[in-house]
Amino acid sequence: MEEQIAQLTGEAQAAIQAADSLEALDGVRVKYLGKKGELTGILRGMGKLSAEERPKVGKIVNEARAALEEQIAAKNEALKGAALANRLASEKIDVTLPGRRVPLGHLHPLTLTLNRIKEIFLDMGFSVEEGPEIEKDYYNFEALNLPKDHPARDMQDSFYITEDILMRTQTSPVQARTMQSHEPNSPIRMIAPGRVYRRDDYDASHSPMFTQVEGLVIDKGISLADLKGTLELFLQQIFNDKVQVRLRPSFFPFTEPSTEVDVSCVMCHGHGCSVCKGTGWLEILGAGMVHPHVLEMSGYDPNVVSGFAFGLGVERIAMLSYGVSDLRLFYDNDMRFLRQF
Ligand code: PHE
Repeated sequence: MEEQIAQLTGEAQAAIQAADSLEALDGVRVKYLGKKGELTGILRGMGKLSAEERPKVGKIVNEARAALEEQIAAKNEALKGAALANRLASEKIDVTLPGRRVPLGHLHPLTLTLNRIKEIFLDMGFSVEEGPEIEKDYYNFEALNLPKDHPARDMQDSFYITEDILMRTQTSPVQARTMQSHEPNSPIRMIAPGRVYRRDDYDASHSPMFTQVEGLVIDKGISLADLKGTLELFLQQIFNDKVQVRLRPSFFPFTEPSTEVDVSCVMCHGHGCSVCKGTGWLEILGAGMVHPHVLEMSGYDPNVVSGFAFGLGVERIAMLSYGVSDLRLFYDNDMRFLRQF
């Protein structure tokens, strides 16, 4: 009996040493010490032993059992330690490695220019209005004194969707929309930025889609002097304090009188260069006093209030302030170009 126990204990010890994983070790424990284990089996069979032998054998079995349990616990610790060391080695992180850079974008030069324009007008107390890019013929033309078949429509050869709906050719329809959303004759001081569409060729200075900012000021006693003063202040802030501003007579069906606003060339300061084609002046925006009929059509009384309106091209201002010679660069989205802003 004692020999049998010694042999079993020896086997169990060897198996414990050989176990190379926690699962294998548990298998060994079950095999020898489990409910149906081999050493447990000997304890069960003790009923057949004599009264003198029983305590002796019991003591040996219990001692063997305690020894094995201790060895299993020790091996268990060793295996757990090895497993942890393995994990630490395989999941090692070098916290001194430089981080992965998240590429950080920035605003498009046209957005930057538009933001600057908005900022200047907001400082002067203007609000920012919006209108739809797909517009009714009524707002785009008729409410602006351009009835059907008016020859001035030809200047803005258009993308029509139906007879009465088109891609807006200008931001001026927001003038009528804004007036109609106000109490008649109540004061307005707004700008309306947005995209406009014309069936233009695509070359260095034209694009079938471009960006405008409309402006409209209406109140009692607004005059051409207010128009000039406001636009002068704006142009001096967007370019620099030294630019000169001049008005030239022009024609728009929705303003009377109408004017083309020029600034002294921001490249050559008026001396004459290729950008201003030797004239020293740059045509920068169209403007005028709101036509009485336009006021009337949107519920305003030209005998009570007057106003001025203007429309400027954002691309043109961006080209001049950044020195960009080809408008198409703004739309190509070539990173080599965009990264420069
Ligand atoms: N809408 C005109 C254009 O696109 C510009 C303009 C706006 C002129 C407001 C006068 C007043 O050419």
